[in-house]
Amino acid sequence: MFYITTAIVYANGDPHLGHAYELVLTDVIARYQRMIGNDVYFLTGLDEHGQKVQQSAKRLGVNPLDLCNDVATKINDLCSKLLISNSDYIRTTENRHKHTVQTILQDLYNKKEIYKDDYKGFYSVKQEQFLQEKDRNVDGSWPEEFGEVIEIIEANYFFKLSQYQDWLIDFIKKNPDFIYPYFRQKQVLEFLKDPINDLCISRPIQRLSWGIPLPFDPNFVTYVWFDALINYISAVRYGSNQFSEYWPVNIHVIGKDIMLPAHAIYWPIILHACGIELPKSLLVHGFWNFSGRKMSKSSGEVIDPLSLVEKYGPSAFRYFFTREMNVGQDSEYSLDQFVKRYNNDLGNDLGNLVSRLLNMGARYSNSQVPPVTIQDEPEINLLSFWESTNKEVREFYDKKLFHMALDRTFSFIREINRYIEIRAPWSLAKSKELEDRKRLNSTLGTIAESLRLSAATLAPVTPDISIKIYELLGLNEISTWDLELRWSSRLEGNTLGEKTILFPRYNN
Ligand code: ME8
Ligand code: MG
Repeated sequence: MFYITTAIVYANGDPHLGHAYELVLTDVIARYQRMIGNDVYFLTGLDEHGQKVQQSAKRLGVNPLDLCNDVATKINDLCSKLLISNSDYIRTTENRHKHTVQTILQDLYNKKEIYKDDYKGFYSVKQEQFLQEKDRNVDGSWPEEFGEVIEIIEANYFFKLSQYQDWLIDFIKKNPDFIYPYFRQKQVLEFLKDPINDLCISRPIQRLSWGIPLPFDPNFVTYVWFDALINYISAVRYGSNQFSEYWPVNIHVIGKDIMLPAHAIYWPIILHACGIELPKSLLVHGFWNFSGRKMSKSSGEVIDPLSLVEKYGPSAFRYFFTREMNVGQDSEYSLDQFVKRYNNDLGNDLGNLVSRLLNMGARYSNSQVPPVTIQDEPEINLLSFWESTNKEVREFYDKKLFHMALDRTFSFIREINRYIEIRAPWSLAKSKELEDRKRLNSTLGTIAESLRLSAATLAPVTPDISIKIYELLGLNEISTWDLELRWSSRLEGNTLGEKTILFPRYNN
């Protein structure tokens, strides 16, 4: 089983472009893995507990669960509009999750990995975390991102994180593939040069009631990060047969923010202390910026992903965000660039190729795909372009260089368009020679087959468009990479579909 997850979205506001991106990125990997023949279990979900959700609900005058239900509906809607092929959707208010969180807590408590102590310190209500002296600005004030900072003393429970620091450093050094990209691994190791503190894993119920009660002390609820991370094992029913089959997870897809220490430090240590195998890898993506600023719910700067999907279609959305992000780096979103990619790549390169084939097929071959009987230099060149494209694309997918995979695929699509210019079927059609008739037929057959190969190569990124193209070629299913991505004569005799515009032109 190839098990892959996204982060679970905070239920304190509407899903934004960053969330949509993470879902798309994970879905592209999931669909690619299925295409290369793996069974895939793709999990996403909702992070419902904690102070931020409690506060947002209070502000809106609703109870927290109603707020979460509302956000869950919006995310499900976003998932279905973006064609996200997740196998499961976990909510941290579900019993399967609460049960696992309490099992893990009790286990760690029994093993004396959890102890009670007084905590005195500065606390950021907004980030729901205690702060340290080193978090202060040089002038002694607290950075804006922490919002209101208050000093508190309270009894709490702590998980013995610090005793595992050396073990973790050793583990990360011995497993260079654990954190991708590599520079993030170096960043984590850098961070681990300073001693880490034990992790405060509880909140007194007077301050926070919206959480999972500690099984050994009902006066406290579980700290939301400890609760949230466990979703990855509760979803696949920790302790069951399913768990042994699915765990360890292959990839946790996460963003570069606070997600990184949570997944590269807390999570491996929690698992290790419980005697559970560690995840195989973390894929740490960068952030989408909007005019150079980070986009997050807290800054209020959001772009509604649904409006883009509704106007341009799911495949255009998925294409843009995969094409423009070198996974790991940050990227800048702009509507201008979105529309440019849409019109140039999807409209001119791919959309026109489809229209040309359907038009010429209707005009010259009664909308049948003719046999390829002649393979001269132009055909041989196109075929060899395909062979190298196929090989490179597969490597790029494996190396998580999805933007490069798309770059190469579109080079091939442009090469098909060049091939059409070279063969000029409209001139061949004017000739009375039998050889030219054969050449025309072979050209149409070659265009159809190379379009089919392009559509199949794009399937992880543009699933609905790829299927649509397959249907226009008289096929109905895209199966595995090995079966589909081979030059063949399978389209011979198929009836081409009606002329259609896949990507209507927009000015913005
Ligand atoms: O942090 N660009 O949830 P979240 C790209 N509930 N990715 C972005 C982004 C942006 N502008 N903004 C956010 C949480 N993300 C926790 C996770 S997991 C056990 C608990 C990413 O709703 C972010 O990095 O704030 C994270 O991976 C995901 O969106 C959810 O963020
Ligand atoms: Mg966040």
